[in-house]
Amino acid sequence: MSSTIESVLQETRAFPPPEAFVKQANISGMAAYEAMCNEAERDFEGFWARLARENLLWHKPFTRILDESNAPFFKWFEDGELNASYNCLDRHLKTQPDKIAIVFEADDGKVTHVTYRQLYEKVCQFANGLKKRGIAKGDRVLIYMPMSVEAIVAMQACARIGATHSVVFGGFSAKSVQERIVDAGAVAVITADGQFRGGKEIPLKPAIDEALAMGGCEAIKSVVVYKRTGTSIPMTAPRDAWWSDVVAGQPTDCEPTWVGAEHPLFILYTSGSTGKPKGVQHSTGGYLLHAMITMKWVFDIKPKDIFWCTADVGWVTGHTYIAYGPLAVGTTQVVFEGVPTYPDAGRFWKMIQDHKVNIFYTAPTAIRSLIKAGGDLPKNYDLKSLRILGSVGEPINPEAWRWYYETVGGSRCPIVDTWWQTETGGHMITPLPGVHALKPGSCQAPLPGVIADIVDETGHSVGNGKGGILVIKKPWPSMIRTIWGDPERFKKSYFPEDFQGKYYLAGDGATKDEKGNITIMGRIDDVLNVSGHRLGTMEIESALVSNSKLVAEAAVVGRPDDLTGEAVVAFVVTKGPRPSGEEAKAMANELRAWVAKEIGSIAKPKDIRFGDNLPKTRSGKIMRRLLRSIAKGEAITQDVSTLENPAILDQLKQNL
Ligand code: WT7
Repeated sequence: MSSTIESVLQETRAFPPPEAFVKQANISGMAAYEAMCNEAERDFEGFWARLARENLLWHKPFTRILDESNAPFFKWFEDGELNASYNCLDRHLKTQPDKIAIVFEADDGKVTHVTYRQLYEKVCQFANGLKKRGIAKGDRVLIYMPMSVEAIVAMQACARIGATHSVVFGGFSAKSVQERIVDAGAVAVITADGQFRGGKEIPLKPAIDEALAMGGCEAIKSVVVYKRTGTSIPMTAPRDAWWSDVVAGQPTDCEPTWVGAEHPLFILYTSGSTGKPKGVQHSTGGYLLHAMITMKWVFDIKPKDIFWCTADVGWVTGHTYIAYGPLAVGTTQVVFEGVPTYPDAGRFWKMIQDHKVNIFYTAPTAIRSLIKAGGDLPKNYDLKSLRILGSVGEPINPEAWRWYYETVGGSRCPIVDTWWQTETGGHMITPLPGVHALKPGSCQAPLPGVIADIVDETGHSVGNGKGGILVIKKPWPSMIRTIWGDPERFKKSYFPEDFQGKYYLAGDGATKDEKGNITIMGRIDDVLNVSGHRLGTMEIESALVSNSKLVAEAAVVGRPDDLTGEAVVAFVVTKGPRPSGEEAKAMANELRAWVAKEIGSIAKPKDIRFGDNLPKTRSGKIMRRLLRSIAKGEAITQDVSTLENPAILDQLKQNL
């Protein structure tokens, strides 16, 4: 495979959008795109204000646009009032109440349709139920749900009553749930008895019970449980209540709670460079605006489109492009409970065929695994409904790009390679389907109004043909507002003094080619990207070291991986003598299980190496660069003269 990767890296062809596509596109042609960029440049605030007035329904119109007085704590449309759920549901009641909002396909293939009116009623009933259980505006609610209509209803219902949701991906451990409950100061949890994935039943509620028993969660007064699998689970009265009982007898209307545009719609935890995840706080107005305009600009959404984003609502992609964006623009979307390889690796293609999906949005890691599991399978399905393909979460290697483009998209569908982050709220840098000639593997160009640049260490633009640090030079409406409960960390992480606190630091390295196309090179901090999921090396190190019985010291680095993009490699110094042979294998498995319990399965190290020590400088600093070379199996070319204990390098090179 590596020789083909080499050859496609030399790929210099550009793939211009077909003329017929350009003609019908919401942003049609380069001139239209440039006109928008120019408008934003001429009158930055006016540009965003126009979009905010055209797209959002305001209960009370805003008069102020951008408030920079307390930078970098920017505020947008601050004196305006609105409700996100009203903007996603009520607005369609008059115009298209019977349009399908959600086509839900369960793990076992069972399909359920929910119209906009039905979704509105479900959300209202559940919102009323939450209110009855004492949940009110400003409260934080932790959501730990499988992919389901109810997960979306839960999020929308929180938004409807002005409660701030904090969704935790169902794959995270009880410990991770507990940490997030404590950090967010949550008062309620919405969960399910369990979930189905790939024909298997996976429990969820027990993790909540375990988390709540860990302490620090005394503020949780309500746990609402959606019955999905029907397995018997303990319910603790009066704290726990079944979803069906919570909504029983509730009215199918619920007056939305109007909130200020800056009201926190949600907190979503993500990994940073320290051991503690960051609670990324998003606004209501600016966030929803960006969700809407990117649905229109990037996915070129039209009234008849069927949209499918394969993400989980536990990640930001599932927030913006499942729970909010598609509903706000009134599209029909597919929501999928299961996994791409069950019952076989043709599942995605079958679903595209069955539901006549027009716009399909997935991650490179899924694409790579589906190539491996059955690169010819798409040919067995009718995929002609597709008109746009999207990619998100990590760089897409040109090999995977080309397969996606040709085999899935029939060389007919533009691929939007969307660069963004939990912190940015929505797409930031991406080709537009009716504008840019595509360059495989490159996210190419910032959206109108997004002032992205690549700079050197001193903050100067590097110019075309060079690489550097990706920054955003002006605030944008959907940006992170703060790290929940830690404004100092927000400032330090994203608006560092290196750039006089003026630029938003994304944490990615990037290059610009001769034409100015932006290509993301990957993280420049201690964050790994495994299957499009963000993991902090420090977070995994802390988890390992917290096993005080076995582990004395640990260092974690990333290594390129054909399937998952990056893989976690851990170097461990044990408390007892360094294990070898079968003993080492057994201990590695024990530590993997430990990490899964501490954080979640996604954080399990793929490779664990044991040493009597870690390579350190004389001042005691771990030489991570050396560890990265060892993890990759590279020859060590770095200067090791400052290394205190060169002999351990040979130990660490040994694979189990
Ligand atoms: C990091 C953000 C955006 C939602 C899912 C991930 C990497 C994201 C791309 C892309 C290259 C990408 C970056 C970024 N990333 N999209 N199209 N090309 N890299 O959100 O967990 O906050 O991770 O994912 O490294 O910083 P996230």
